Amino acid sequence: MDAHQWDARYAAAAASGIWAHAAPRIVQEVVATLPPGRALDLGCGDGRTTRLLAARGWTVTAVDFSAEALAIAVRVTTEAADRVTWLQADVTTLAPRAGQHLVVATYLHLPEPALRRVLATAAASLVPGGTLLVLGHDVENLATGAPGPTDPSLLYTPELLAGAVGGLEVVRCERVRRGPDDAETHGPVSGGEAVDTVLVATAPA
Ligand SMILES: C[S@@+](CC[C@H](N)C(=O)[O-])C[C@H]1O[C@@H](n2cnc3c(N)ncnc32)[C@H](O)[C@@H]1O
Repeated sequence: MDAHQWDARYAAAAASGIWAHAAPRIVQEVVATLPPGRALDLGCGDGRTTRLLAARGWTVTAVDFSAEALAIAVRVTTEAADRVTWLQADVTTLAPRAGQHLVVATYLHLPEPALRRVLATAAASLVPGGTLLVLGHDVENLATGAPGPTDPSLLYTPELLAGAVGGLEVVRCERVRRGPDDAETHGPVSGGEAVDTVLVATAPA
């Protein structure tokens, strides 16, 4: 999907109010283990992870190519908004932004070559010891009936993510399931448990 297609989705979501506003549970759990620093949120959407980070004291650069997403993000980010820089840009062509203690990408689904470029940019942006956190729909999600992209070439597997972050130390890379109990933070799950892939990796110290 290009930026205009995402703009249309955000305009519709803003009207119906269906998208989740809290950061994903796993993101909340990982962030709770880290001291605040500088963070980059790639494909930030309407900013739910950026808001969590800013509220916890992080200085965040939040990047998305959808003007509509960023307009919503600016409007709904009230706490610690001065710690956030919203940047309208294509993450597949973004230059590394050195000095990040954390780079996050959640539910950013791209063709594999583009995803690999983004993850290389993310890795090159980290300080020694910095953390990369990636979360998205796993290819096994297709069999569950839960929402998410239906093109398997856009979906994650643990092997794909672990193989795309050479040079980083993989701390955690696995499938995780979420069901109705996670609806508050992920939006409603219909048709069964959803399956995500999560990757946590660190830059060599
Ligand atoms: C499913 S949304 C996820 C948003 C957010 N990370 C979250 O978890 O709520 C995917 C986001 O990635 C953005 N996106 C997709 N491709 C992009 C690209 N090439 N450059 C920048 N943003 C992109 C879309 O505009 C959209 O906001």
